[in-house]
Amino acid sequence: MFEQLVEAARAAYLKAYAPYSNFHVGASALTIDGEIVSGCNVENASYGLTVCAERNCIAQGVINGQRRFSELVVYTEEEMLTPPCGACRQVIVEFMVQSAKVYAVNHLGKVKEWSVKELLPDAFTPENLQK
Ligand code: THU
Repeated sequence: MFEQLVEAARAAYLKAYAPYSNFHVGASALTIDGEIVSGCNVENASYGLTVCAERNCIAQGVINGQRRFSELVVYTEEEMLTPPCGACRQVIVEFMVQSAKVYAVNHLGKVKEWSVKELLPDAFTPENLQK
């Protein structure tokens, strides 16, 4: 399954729209129903509107009616692995349980893994909004 996730993230990576940074990223996630969704980074001439691969991947799941993911892979072809940015960590927390795993992988087969809790400890979550 991990290999399928990496392959989906790589396929998404190939579709990245990153003419400004030239930093291409693909992401994939496994839904709790066993479905794989993916996304790539999509940049904009108004730079701040850029959306990362991870957030587009999660949005793809939500569009498919999937709101829970058990694993997420971030794929780049950089020597140094790409961890999810701060904004993506917050979005990951919304849709993945604390024990779920996030992996950064590259084309050389290098892998680093974190739990969601490690990526964003003491996160602000929907629970905080409960009165
Ligand atoms: N980017 C991602 O897609 N995911 C990350 O976790 C880090 C950054 C994108 C955003 C932008 O298009 C490019 O990489 C450079 O920051």
